Amino acid sequence: MAELDRKDSHLALCLGEQVEFTGRASGFGELRFDHDALPEIDKASVTTEVELLGKRLAAPIVIASMTGGTPRAGELNRRLALAAETCRVGMALGSQRKMLESPATRATFAVREAAPGLPLLFGNIGAVQLNYGVGIREIRRIVEAVGADAFLFHLNPLQEAIQPEGNTRFSALLPKLRDVVPALGVPVLLKEVGAGISRTTALKIRELPVAGVETSGLGGTSWSKIESLRTADPVQRTTGELFARWGIPTVESISICREALPDRVVIASGGIRNGIEVAKALALGADAVSLALPLLRAADKSVEDAILALRRVIEELRTAMFVTGCRTVPELRRRTLVRARDFTAED
Ligand SMILES: Cc1cc2nc3c(=O)[nH]c(=O)nc-3n(C[C@H](O)[C@H](O)[C@H](O)COP(=O)(O)O)c2cc1C
Repeated sequence: MAELDRKDSHLALCLGEQVEFTGRASGFGELRFDHDALPEIDKASVTTEVELLGKRLAAPIVIASMTGGTPRAGELNRRLALAAETCRVGMALGSQRKMLESPATRATFAVREAAPGLPLLFGNIGAVQLNYGVGIREIRRIVEAVGADAFLFHLNPLQEAIQPEGNTRFSALLPKLRDVVPALGVPVLLKEVGAGISRTTALKIRELPVAGVETSGLGGTSWSKIESLRTADPVQRTTGELFARWGIPTVESISICREALPDRVVIASGGIRNGIEVAKALALGADAVSLALPLLRAADKSVEDAILALRRVIEELRTAMFVTGCRTVPELRRRTLVRARDFTAED
């Protein structure tokens, strides 16, 4: 199937089907903050502002990598960028591979033209493309074409394994990443797409000159599930359904990455669905979080819905900070969580 068809079929499935892990696998429901009935601060003094990769954001939030490459994807990118600009949070583009194959699709990724005040923009491509003819020159070109401040390589062996037309030549990517990463001129992060970064992977990443990682752990959108819904092959379909439960839960992946990569940026993602979960991810050591599916679904309705979704998450984060007595995000990141049932995480 052509890439054009693939992107739109992914969007249709994400907007119309149950594509998330449904068993609360992210792990946030088993952790609770110590509620403080005497926080000794004024709510008005709470600020969610942070600096991420040298850019000032109103909250430690990034709209996760999702889309681009088709007219529908371009419109969604435009709405997401306007929402990110209005709420002063970061945004990541979906895979820019299509831009290399057909330069005419550039406009669908050119979100700075719609939202020039966007504070932080990430470019994106699959790391495996380094084994399929993409090199430093091509990636520099797609970084510059959209004015990206940073770049995400996604690591998605499970998705590619289930995808009917998947690119599964994952050999010898580490030496290629070692050469490419320092040559791009912007900070580079590596991310999963829903199966999480394990300790084994984090220790390999530690040897690379990357600025950080994005966990994209188990518990949210499942690309194994999405690809299983797309394939006509009955064996691939059941394999994809089985592996929809495979991976490192987001909560575990955050702690692993924080410990293995103490001096790098850790962005938490994978099933983060409200501001309390954002607060928990930060308390576990993340520098910021990213959300994909809920923001896609909001942006599919309108820019205003996407803005509302972001405002809601930021207000929930601010409230969690107030009732734990934290004026700033660095204070919140020093709070410890207790292992206990959290009623806000109940279905
Ligand atoms: C519609 C859609 C498209 C996505 N496309 C990409 C992509 O092109 N590149 C990438 O790195 N991740 C992609 N992802 C994965 C997300 O960036 C994120 O890691 C994952 O969905 C987990 O976050 P969530 O549970 O909040 O959705 C996509 C996710 C969605 C929902």
